[in-house]
Amino acid sequence: MCGIIGYVGPRQSQDILLAGLARLEYRGYDSAGIAVIDGDGGLGMRKRAGKLSVLRDDLASTPLADGTTGIGHTRWATHGGPTDANAHPHLADDDKLAVIHNGIIENFAELKSELMGEGVTFRSETDTEVAAAMIGREYARTGDLVSAFRAVVSRLDGAYTLLAMHKDHPGLVVGARRNSPLVIGLGEGENFLGSDVAAFVEHTRKALAIGQDEIVAITPGGVEVTDFSGAPVEVEAFEVTWDASAAEKGGWSSFMAKEVSEEPEAVANTLRGRIHEGRVEIPELDGMDEFLADIDRILVIACGTAAYAGMVGKYALETWTRVPVDVELAHEFRYRDPVLSPRTLVVSISQSGETMDTLMAVKYARARGAKTLSICNTQGATIPRESDAIVYTHAGPEVAVASTKAFVAQITALYLLALHVGRVRGAVDPVAAVEAVTELEAVPGKIARVLETEQTRIEQLAHWMADTRSVLFLGRNVGYPIALEGALKLKELAYIHAEGFAAGELKHGPIALIEPGQPVFVVVPSPRGSGEMHKKVVSNIEEIRARGARVIAIAEEGDVAVLPAADEVLRIPLAAPMFEPLLAVVPLHIFAMGLAEAKGLDVDQPRNLAKSVTVE
Ligand code: AGP
Repeated sequence: MCGIIGYVGPRQSQDILLAGLARLEYRGYDSAGIAVIDGDGGLGMRKRAGKLSVLRDDLASTPLADGTTGIGHTRWATHGGPTDANAHPHLADDDKLAVIHNGIIENFAELKSELMGEGVTFRSETDTEVAAAMIGREYARTGDLVSAFRAVVSRLDGAYTLLAMHKDHPGLVVGARRNSPLVIGLGEGENFLGSDVAAFVEHTRKALAIGQDEIVAITPGGVEVTDFSGAPVEVEAFEVTWDASAAEKGGWSSFMAKEVSEEPEAVANTLRGRIHEGRVEIPELDGMDEFLADIDRILVIACGTAAYAGMVGKYALETWTRVPVDVELAHEFRYRDPVLSPRTLVVSISQSGETMDTLMAVKYARARGAKTLSICNTQGATIPRESDAIVYTHAGPEVAVASTKAFVAQITALYLLALHVGRVRGAVDPVAAVEAVTELEAVPGKIARVLETEQTRIEQLAHWMADTRSVLFLGRNVGYPIALEGALKLKELAYIHAEGFAAGELKHGPIALIEPGQPVFVVVPSPRGSGEMHKKVVSNIEEIRARGARVIAIAEEGDVAVLPAADEVLRIPLAAPMFEPLLAVVPLHIFAMGLAEAKGLDVDQPRNLAKSVTVE
């Protein structure tokens, strides 16, 4: 969750650092700080608990000396509360060395006692200060910051991105990563380091991804990347497709509002380049046909909203590949001694590509012989780099903590994967595949239509319901994960009790929750075709209405049978059943956002939450 930025070049670094940290705010934090090697060879540092504005105000009242080498950090507290002392950077080697860190150093306690045994004293409760003291101790021996890093990182267990600079070396910032993100921004006569590309995207879109257990040294004229043993390594270059404006609100009331409006293009961009004459061909999976033809099980692992996307994807994967599919929460999967084989395809889903629970599950699966495929929205992130194959979603930067456009992009990527694998295995009827592709290509326009025709009404509904204390969500078949997603959105945005159920489960307990006025959203299947599920869900609605529930149905245009049953009907365009989730979720995203706004809550950065949960 922490935000990291480093700069070396000809320009004054403070504004670059603060602007970069501002673009990283979405990662969630509770303190911030910067350090600068100034023109006189001094090292200045300022850090404050609270939002970036607190640090800015402090610097405005008592400025740091200017300098062109600097590092900056936004911290989400893990070891030690959000205080000025625990904020980063941390200093060592007689305050000549500054260090910032993202992640958790699991063996920091033993290292701390080792250092204290040597008379080192600490000013904070953090694991980071222990790393700083270790680097400082090594540097004092060698006078070489890179070799000091190398001597220390091999002793650190856990997940970390570390950046450091020393006042004896203006124009040099050194970084290292293990199980935590770090990317390089390549400028003209200047270079950047960042926890993700948002840190430097306004200055350059040329980037290099740093791999696991690698150390990078940046100077204005160059970049050197070595592994922990000191051997030079090739790094993967990529062009950042997000521009600076993409990380701005663009005039929307919130990042989330902007991102919900981008749901159509998130689907369209994820489809782009992967459908040729009605056939799904995912270029990133070239050369995997033989393996995909041979898999006998697909295991989807993810957390939160990404897991719900996986639950929707299961229906498509089993329908079009005829391979058994299980969906598991990553943090449960790793601790149950699962049965895996070389014919198991483990598909991870992660918007950030840095969710530690998911990352550790991927590494666990890979270590036990399974092939891993990452569906991820963040180029160069750790999970894709730790996977055998990658299918990127192209939803663009998702800044709001609540995942919306990434969710519909994840489902889209899963459907593409299902059709690609189904084709390779000869498991999907070619006519059905073409029909599915036609449906997929129509989704962006249909989502746009929901936004055009229903958004205002849903926002009004949310404002009318601002005092609601509890909302239930019902769905069946592919609509069930959408009920779960709708409930999660309401929990994380409006801070009220919300629960999603499989509609068929009502009579097995949850119906006891129904009392007069209880709001219940129901995702209604299409009445077309046999309509069997439609009839069952409408009777579910009648059962809860009879007990006083206030039912808001999400139903397809033209479904009249639902009208007498529901208090409100929110309409979605006609689509084949497998594609309804992509449309039905949109009203639930809008509703949750509207209710949070009606309650005056922070839609983009809900309390207690971070955009990327990079600790287990
Ligand atoms: C979604 O609205 C939540 N913020 C959260 O559940 C999120 O989906 C989950 O933490 C997984 O994040 P990831 O997709 O970046 O791995």
